Amino acid sequence: MRILVTGGAGFIGSNYIRHVLATHPQDEIVNFDKLTYAGNLDNLADISQNPRYKFVRGDICDSALVVDLLKQSIEAIVHFAAESHVDRSIVDAQEFIRTNVQGTFVILEAARRQRISRFIQISTDEVYGSMEPGEFANERSPLRPNSPYAASKAAADLLVRSYVKTYGFPAMVTRSSNNYGPRQFLEKLIPLMISNASEGKRLPVYGDGLNERDWIYVEDNCRALDRVLRDGRPGEVYNIGYGKPTPNLEIVRRLIVILGKSTDLIEFVADRPGHDRCYALNVEKLSGELAWQPAVDLEEGLRRTVEWYQKNADWMAKARSGEYQTYYEKLYSHRRSTLANL
Ligand code: NAD
Ligand code: TYD
Repeated sequence: MRILVTGGAGFIGSNYIRHVLATHPQDEIVNFDKLTYAGNLDNLADISQNPRYKFVRGDICDSALVVDLLKQSIEAIVHFAAESHVDRSIVDAQEFIRTNVQGTFVILEAARRQRISRFIQISTDEVYGSMEPGEFANERSPLRPNSPYAASKAAADLLVRSYVKTYGFPAMVTRSSNNYGPRQFLEKLIPLMISNASEGKRLPVYGDGLNERDWIYVEDNCRALDRVLRDGRPGEVYNIGYGKPTPNLEIVRRLIVILGKSTDLIEFVADRPGHDRCYALNVEKLSGELAWQPAVDLEEGLRRTVEWYQKNADWMAKARSGEYQTYYEKLYSHRRSTLANL
């Protein structure tokens, strides 16, 4: 299968590409990414010369480029590309609406016209909004997004739904919980805490630190996404989660223990506006229909993650300095340059 992965230079996308190349020897991947501040080709350095992998730099809102790309024998699309950080969406939501809503529309419309046979919209548990204690969202739960990021993802999910219902377009939506693991950009909770603690800096915990997230190790999510791509039912939504929400403060404390640092580094700071208290997912549909279970428990996943960041000090230093951005601007000044080589 020839798969177009959008946003494959980001955290989950790069892990997913690596997973597909390792587990499906016949598959080819075209990675289409704009390389925003969150996109990082170093995430794929080890496979960049693989003959089954190609990179094209571009924007998913550029419909002429997307249409050209899909004509290159693309059979399936796994659509990761998005602005993904809630805090940034609170400061300025414009790019979230452009990429997450308009961009998804462009990809969907081109895919429908090109008769793409499998499509996954990568969504998030945040579209369900905050859960009450003991409440778990299933795929039929109402969408109640509370941040501009979550609203933009919910809007995209609804567009996908409309294409399924109106055109019979064979799309599926996956809604996963918070991912963690190697190659996550430093702005998100777990890598930020690892980075700051390693440098002896304060660890900013929002509010009382008791907000809960259902942290899933990124490789478990990638296995689930791949199960959905190959064996999921077109038109369906699948939740993907670990199944056990954990308070942020507990995550930070566990990291401190693994890193051998002091809890004195923790600093409680002003809460995020509209901060959802808890995300919790019911994942029975995925485990029942597609026989998927998470394989990496939280403690093991956090240890592996810390180890990866410790072993990849260069990656960390570049991410801290913002060096990636200028590097890519120089390297890929002509965005269509690699399209001709497909
Ligand atoms: P990320 O921010 O690490 O990566 C996003 C990637 O998309 C980057 O490589 C970026 O360059 C690319 N991109 C952004 N705008 C683009 C555009 N206009 N055109 C082309 N490429 C563009 O994100 P992530 O954490 O890997 O998340 C990937 C997807 O998974 C997103 O759709 C996100 O909403 C979803 N998701 C993430 C999590 C999580 O915990 N990280 C959880 C659930 C769902
Ligand atoms: P984050 O990693 O930004 O993911 P999301 O907002 O998509 O869930 O945040 C995870 C949780 O950690 C969330 O409850 C906010 C909290 N948080 C902090 O307490 N401090 C921080 O510095 C960050 C980035 C997040």
